[in-house]
Amino acid sequence: MAASPPPSRFGPPFLPLLLLLLVVGYFTASASAAGELSQVVGRGADGPYFEPFNVSYDHRAVRIGGQRRMLVSAGVHYPRATPEMWPSIIAKCKEGGADVIETYVFWNGHEPAKGQYYFEDRFDLVRFVKLVAAEGLFFLLRIGPYACAEWNFGGFPVWLRDIPGIEFRTDNEPYKAEMQTFVTKIVDMMKAEKLYSWQGGPIILQQV
Ligand SMILES: *[C@@H]1O[C@H](CO)[C@@H](O)[C@H](O)[C@H]1NC(C)=O
Repeated sequence: MAASPPPSRFGPPFLPLLLLLLVVGYFTASASAAGELSQVVGRGADGPYFEPFNVSYDHRAVRIGGQRRMLVSAGVHYPRATPEMWPSIIAKCKEGGADVIETYVFWNGHEPAKGQYYFEDRFDLVRFVKLVAAEGLFFLLRIGPYACAEWNFGGFPVWLRDIPGIEFRTDNEPYKAEMQTFVTKIVDMMKAEKLYSWQGGPIILQQV
C-alpha cells in the first residue's frame, strides 16, 4: 500500500517524553531529493519499510522525498526500557503526534570492553530501529559518542579513560580514533540492515 507519510500533529497533550528537536546544523543528509515519498509499511519485520527516499534541506526546512516537513521527534532511550516494552512506547509516541523517534546510541552499553561489542536485549539497537520503522515513523540516530542524558559517564566506556594521552570531547587524536571506530561500527551496522532512508529504511537524520 502506498500512502503519504503521517502528517505532523501539534495539538496537546504531548507525551512528557516528546521533545521538539532542532536538527538544523546537526545532521548529515544525502545530497538531493526527488519525487514523492511513498511509505510501504507492512512488508514484514525486516522491511522494506519505505520506498527508498532522499533527505535534504533548504533555507527553511528539512526536505523528505522532496517535500518540506516540520518534524516532531520523540526521545526514546531504548536501553531504559525492555524490548518487550518498545512496541507500546513507540505506538504511544505516534499517538502523541511524533513523526520521528530519536535516541542516543549508548557507547558504554555497546562496547563494555574494548573491541567487545554487545547488541542484545536492551541494547538491540537494530531491533529498536526496525520497530520504529514498522510503526511508519522516521528515525534520528544520535550516535554520540557523548550522551548528555543522565547516563553514566556520558555514555563513555570506562576503558576509554585508560587510553594513553586521551582527552574527551575535544580535538584529541586518541579520542577521535576511538570515536571513529565506534561511529563507523554503528553506521556500517545500520547500512548492512538497510535502515537508511535511501535504502528504504527509517533513518532520515543522524547526529554526531
Ligand atoms: C537519491 O539521490 C541520489 C543521488 O542524487 C539519486 O541517485 C537517487 O536516484 C535518489 N533517490 C531517490 C529515491 O530519489
